[in-house]
Amino acid sequence: MTDYVQTHGLRESATFPREVIAEIQRAAATGIYDIRGWGAKRKVPHFDDLLFLGASMSRYPLEGYREACATDVRLGTRNARFPLHLDIPVTIAGMSFGSLSANAKEALGRGASEAGTSTTTGDGGMSTEERGQSKHLVYQYLPSRYGMNPDDLRKADAIEVVLGQGAKPGGGGMLLGQKITERIGKMRTLPVGIDQRSASRHPDWTGPDDLTIKIAELREITDWEKPIYVKVGATRTYYDVKLAVHAGADVVVVDGMQGGTAATQNVFIEDVGIPTLAALPQAVQALQELGVHREVQLIISGGIRTGGDVAKALALGADAVSIGTAALIALGDNDPALDEQYRALGSAAGYYDDFQDGRDPAGISTQDPDLMARLDPVAAGKRLANYLRVLTMEAQTIARACGKSHVQHLEPEDLVALTIESAAMARVPLAGTNWIPGA
Ligand SMILES: Cc1cc2nc3c(=O)[nH]c(=O)nc-3n(C[C@H](O)[C@H](O)[C@H](O)COP(=O)(O)O)c2cc1C
Repeated sequence: MTDYVQTHGLRESATFPREVIAEIQRAAATGIYDIRGWGAKRKVPHFDDLLFLGASMSRYPLEGYREACATDVRLGTRNARFPLHLDIPVTIAGMSFGSLSANAKEALGRGASEAGTSTTTGDGGMSTEERGQSKHLVYQYLPSRYGMNPDDLRKADAIEVVLGQGAKPGGGGMLLGQKITERIGKMRTLPVGIDQRSASRHPDWTGPDDLTIKIAELREITDWEKPIYVKVGATRTYYDVKLAVHAGADVVVVDGMQGGTAATQNVFIEDVGIPTLAALPQAVQALQELGVHREVQLIISGGIRTGGDVAKALALGADAVSIGTAALIALGDNDPALDEQYRALGSAAGYYDDFQDGRDPAGISTQDPDLMARLDPVAAGKRLANYLRVLTMEAQTIARACGKSHVQHLEPEDLVALTIESAAMARVPLAGTNWIPGA
């Protein structure tokens, strides 16, 4: 095709490239909008656009083998009697049981526990597989209330009140009928096999003042033991973080627009919200102005893939990061060994994002018992634990090179930006200059 295009001097339109043409044709043929999983695919300023300034003459590095560099983090120290104490600053984000198979949820619990971190429930409630294998389990309290019950709330180690997700701030969840089995339908009180679209806002509060009352209620139900997180999709982050703190959050979770999803309209994923890199400094500024930075912990998510990303997020002021898509890849999602099977579904390994379909050959985003049985939760959990260890060691390597004895000691002063956009968003100087645009 490329040869043909070149020899015939054909010219592609920048405004109407082939994928845009294909989408117009698909929409015209079907009359339905595109729903998919994964996160934003457009390129936005990200952690790739930042670099660390390692130590040299003016800074002194730590010796890798002899000098310790700690990685632990406490979450929920503001009010909870039992804050979480995690070994690593990388947590597993909430992903619904329903979007994911029971084996995948079990594997997430196993991997997180082995690496000394927490995992999180999601829309649809708490599965026995996940609770059974998770040392630290965060229970999501979502607008849909699917699977929600006070007994499970008390079985959790922390509560996360979800106001929004980076992939769809302002939007509700979707779960297509093919994934609503007897078990999923029973947990959510939904008819089997019927498409479900869940609420975009909580039914019992309309603003931050009501949220204060709801958080107080959740604290009473859990006897002031468990940390209460508030999760928001990144939009007006500066104000949202201030309001979350005002409402009583112990931990604020900010999910950037690259954040993954199980099933959302493509237009939502690509066109709503702001990049993780733009949201993080706004969140830190809000916490600093309220004098609660580090007292109310900040978790950032949306496109975290490497230890470099982890280190950069911490340097910009996050206390921890959370991962969704990368955790699924570690379990076995998009495995090249399954390429033929992905192709049979009209996709390919490395491209598969039809998490809504329920036909995942890796046995992860499915409720089909035969497909689900393909995922061995023990082996998948081991892969996730390995990956989490690599993320942590990479972040530690960078922290040592910057002379820090704890990954948390990384700071904006350790960073420079490669582009004017990323310098302005991250509020660090453009590399080789002292210039922070807009400062
Ligand atoms: C399969 C899948 C299911 C998800 N389900 C939920 C959910 O039930 N509740 C929620 O708050 N976020 C959900 N999310 C979003 C994640 O919690 C998290 O915000 C996001 O995945 C982070 O971005 P990343 O995927 O780039 O790491 C889901 C994400 C994925 C990939």
